[in-house]
Amino acid sequence: MAGQIEAEMEFFDYDYSSFYYSSSDDVFAILEPYTQWYDQAQVRGYALYAQPMSSRPATRVDLREKLGQGRLNLLNLSSYNYLGMSARPEVIAAAKRGLDQYGLGAAGSPVLSGTMDVHLELERELASFKDKPAVLLFPSGYSTNVGLLQGLMRPGDLILCDQNVHASIVDGAILSKADVRFFKHNRPDDLEKKFNARRGKKLVVIEGVYSMDGDVCRLPEIVEIAKAHDARIMIDEAHSTFIYGEHGRGVAEHFGLEDEIDIHVGTLSKAMGGQGGFVAGSTSLYKYLEGFARSRLFSCSLSPVVASGVLEAVRIARREPELRAKLWANVRHMRARLAEHQVDVGDSTSQIIPLMIRDDRRIFDIAHHMQRSGLYLQPIVYPAVAKHRSRFRISVSAAHTTGQLDEAVDILVRVLRTEGVL
Ligand SMILES: Cc1ncc(COP(=O)(O)O)c(C=O)c1O
Repeated sequence: MAGQIEAEMEFFDYDYSSFYYSSSDDVFAILEPYTQWYDQAQVRGYALYAQPMSSRPATRVDLREKLGQGRLNLLNLSSYNYLGMSARPEVIAAAKRGLDQYGLGAAGSPVLSGTMDVHLELERELASFKDKPAVLLFPSGYSTNVGLLQGLMRPGDLILCDQNVHASIVDGAILSKADVRFFKHNRPDDLEKKFNARRGKKLVVIEGVYSMDGDVCRLPEIVEIAKAHDARIMIDEAHSTFIYGEHGRGVAEHFGLEDEIDIHVGTLSKAMGGQGGFVAGSTSLYKYLEGFARSRLFSCSLSPVVASGVLEAVRIARREPELRAKLWANVRHMRARLAEHQVDVGDSTSQIIPLMIRDDRRIFDIAHHMQRSGLYLQPIVYPAVAKHRSRFRISVSAAHTTGQLDEAVDILVRVLRTEGVL
């Protein structure tokens, strides 16, 4: 028993940060210790990730058990499919037509042989939707941020990021070799300090809705400060495009500040249920990034099959604003039900609702318990969030029925009570 407790303690003394470096001269020396820890995490059930799904990422999913060979049919609160587009029959039909016309892949970089009619049509549709002169497509949201920041910013320039921005923004900023400063999350006063009378080229980078906390950017104050310092502004609306604003154009539209923002980023993997990312802005920005964003330049174009499906999804989202209304009705319902039970949801006000657990160890036991009880809720721990800030992240979709949301709340409240969290 004592040995078992010791082994447990030792296991929990480690996390990802323990495996970045090794003292050996051999590049591979880190692999074996990491593998031992990784294998332990798997058998003990502390790695509830990459659990294979054999269905669409719909409101109910078929998952394979992590610790066994069984199949689970679960209510799904984990997928980003905010408007239920991934399984819309019209979207699937359009993707099938794309497959018939273009075949599977683009077989080329967009600047060589990989630009197809559907890519240009999608760019035009997105530009019209965003009400911007031009939209440049990228193969993913990740490569959008990396290519954009590397393509535009140079050594000696300054990038000022909210401390909670997505890894793709951090990676793009690092790749640009510009100076990078992080201001405290959603704290305009700290942004002001971080400018520190700096001269030269400056870019402020924020997100519309922050992906791990579900809170909304304090855009009006941030814009005011950025303008006062002659900085350009980039907003990543990965989780707010098609969701916020009268026309669904995002948080910038919601605040009436679209024209104040120089660079608008969106992804097609969340509300559109597909894949890809885009930059919306001026035609000169389009042309420059086409030549300098290396993650796009040196990578195969977005699959024309996905582009065809997404094009249809964008058109549906534009002609069916009631989908957005349904999503917001569901969000309100979910929030009210969680509030009835005093569930800690942090500062979230959006369709992303974190269930704060703040215990990096117990969250996995609770996640297993949720799955055994019929609910798929993904645990989020370090390095996706800071240590001791672990949480489940609920993604509400327009596709959920009220009955499904109620069932999900009943399950999660029952499990959290049994586990002593509530
Ligand atoms: C704010 C933000 N930007 C970019 C991305 C990357 O997008 P994608 O998954 O489409 O590559 C994500 C993904 O979660 C995100 O949350």
